[in-house]
Amino acid sequence: MDADTQYIEFVEKIKNLLPSVYPDSPPLAHIHSFGCQQNESDSEKIKGLLADMGYGFTDDTNNAELIIYNTCAVRENAELKVFGNIGELKHLKELNPKLVIGICGCMAQQEHIVEKIRKTYKQVDMVWGTFALFSMPKLLHEVLTERKRVFEISESDKTIHENISTVRNGAFKASVPIMYGCNNFCSYCIVPYVRGRERSRSSEAIIDEIKGLVKDGYREIMLLGQNVNSYGKDLDEHINFSGLLKKIDNIDGNFRVRFMSSHPKDATFELVDTIIESKKICKHFHLPIQSGSDRILSQMNRNYTSEDYLKIIEHARNKLPDFSFSTDIIVGFPNENEEDFQKTMDIIRKVKYDNIYSFIYSKRTGTKAALIEDKTPQEEKTKHMRTLLSVQREIATERYKRFIGRTLRVLVDGEGKKGAGHLSGKSDEFIIVEFNGEKKLIGKFVEVEITAAHNWALEGNIIN
Ligand code: SAH
Ligand code: SF4
Ligand code: F3S
Repeated sequence: MDADTQYIEFVEKIKNLLPSVYPDSPPLAHIHSFGCQQNESDSEKIKGLLADMGYGFTDDTNNAELIIYNTCAVRENAELKVFGNIGELKHLKELNPKLVIGICGCMAQQEHIVEKIRKTYKQVDMVWGTFALFSMPKLLHEVLTERKRVFEISESDKTIHENISTVRNGAFKASVPIMYGCNNFCSYCIVPYVRGRERSRSSEAIIDEIKGLVKDGYREIMLLGQNVNSYGKDLDEHINFSGLLKKIDNIDGNFRVRFMSSHPKDATFELVDTIIESKKICKHFHLPIQSGSDRILSQMNRNYTSEDYLKIIEHARNKLPDFSFSTDIIVGFPNENEEDFQKTMDIIRKVKYDNIYSFIYSKRTGTKAALIEDKTPQEEKTKHMRTLLSVQREIATERYKRFIGRTLRVLVDGEGKKGAGHLSGKSDEFIIVEFNGEKKLIGKFVEVEITAAHNWALEGNIIN
C-alpha cells in the first residue's frame, strides 16, 4: 500500500479497535467547521472517514468522544473564535479524560499556531494541517492506542483523493470542489500559504460526482475553488472553467449550479456568455473586487484595474440586465486613504451589487501586506465600513425592486423567521426570498411571485 492510500489501512485498524475502546456503544464524533465552504467540504470527507471507522455523529459536544475543529485563518477574529472554543473544551476533557480533541484546517497549517496549541492548549490531542487531511486516521490511531499528543503539518499535498466516502451536511444542496489551493498570492491573504498551489480535479471525476448527486435528488450543486476561473490550467486535459460549465450544463436532471470564488483577472467574456447561454448555471456571479482604487488593487497584487473589472460587468448586463453580481470588499487595507475609499464607493454605486461581503483588513503573519507600516487609524476603517454598509443596504433594496411583480424560481431552504407556515429560500440570482408555505416544500423548487423588496430579502406568494 503506498502513502496515498495508507489512510485506508488505518480506517480499518480503528474500525477493529473501537469496540474494545468503547465497549458500551459506538462513539460519537462532533465536527465543527469554521471559515469557508472549502472547509465545510473537507469536513464532509473527515466525517466520511469517521463513519467508515464506525463513529456516529452528534451536535452536542457533551456527548462526544471525539471533537474536531476544522479551522479558518483568513482573519484574526476567525482565529480568536477558534482559540476561544478550544479553551472551553478544557472542562469537557476534565470530565471525560478519554475525550479526543483534534484541530485541523487552515490554522493548523501554520507553524506558529501549532506551537501555540502545543504549549498552551494541552487538552488538544491531535493537530493536522490542510495538506495532511488524509493523515487523520493514522494520527487518531496513535492517539487511541498510545494516548500521546500528535502533530502533523506536511509540506505539501499534491494528491487528490477521489472516490472517498463523504457524509454530506445537506440533503438537497451539495458542494463539489473542482480545484484546491491558490496561486494568486494577493498581498493580504493567507490562503495560498495554508492551502498550497492550484490543483484541479479531472472533469471526469467532477462530472461523475455531480451525476451521482443529481441521482440522489440534490437540487443545487455549488462548485468550489479559491479561483474557479483558473480551473484546468494545471491539467493535461484541454479544458477551462467555461468548458467544464458546459459539460455540467449538459447533465440531465432538475438541478441548478452555482460556483465560487472567481478572480476578476481570469473572468472572461467567454465565461459570462457560457453562463448566460446555459440552462442550469445561475445567472449570478460572485466576483470579488476587494477595492475600487487602482493604487490599492496594485498593492494588493490583484492584477486588474477597476476599468477591467467594469468591462466584465458591462458585458454581462448588456446581454442580461438582470444579471446578479455580488462581491467581497476589504475596507482599510494598509494606508488606504479617503480618496481610495471613495473610489470603492464609486464602484459600488456603479455596479449596484445584490450583495456585498465586506471585511475590515486583518493583518496576517507571513503575508506581504503584513510588512507594510499601516498609518490608517482603526476608527477611520470602522467609520468607512459603516458608510459602506448603509449605502449598500439602500442600493440592494432599490435593486431588488426590479423583481416586484415578477415570478422567480426559488429553492426552499427552510422555515422563515416568522416560524410555522413561513418559508425562506434563494432565487437563482441568489437573493433571499420569503413567503408562506408548508414545510414539506423544503428542498424543492417553487415559483414565487414577488410582492415586496426589503433590504435583506424579497417577499412574495407561491404560485402553482
Ligand atoms: N479566493 C477567494 C476568497 C478567499 S477569502 C477570492 O479570491 O475571491 C474570502 C475573502 O476574505 C476575500 O475575498 C477577502 O475579501 C477577504 N480577506 C482575505 N484576506 C483578508 C484579510 N487579511 N483581511 C480582511 N479580509 C480578508
Ligand atoms: Fe486569497 Fe487572492 Fe487566492 Fe482569493 S485569490 S484565496 S484572496 S490569494
Ligand atoms: Fe478560511 Fe481556509 Fe477557507 S483560511 S476562508 S477556511 S481556505
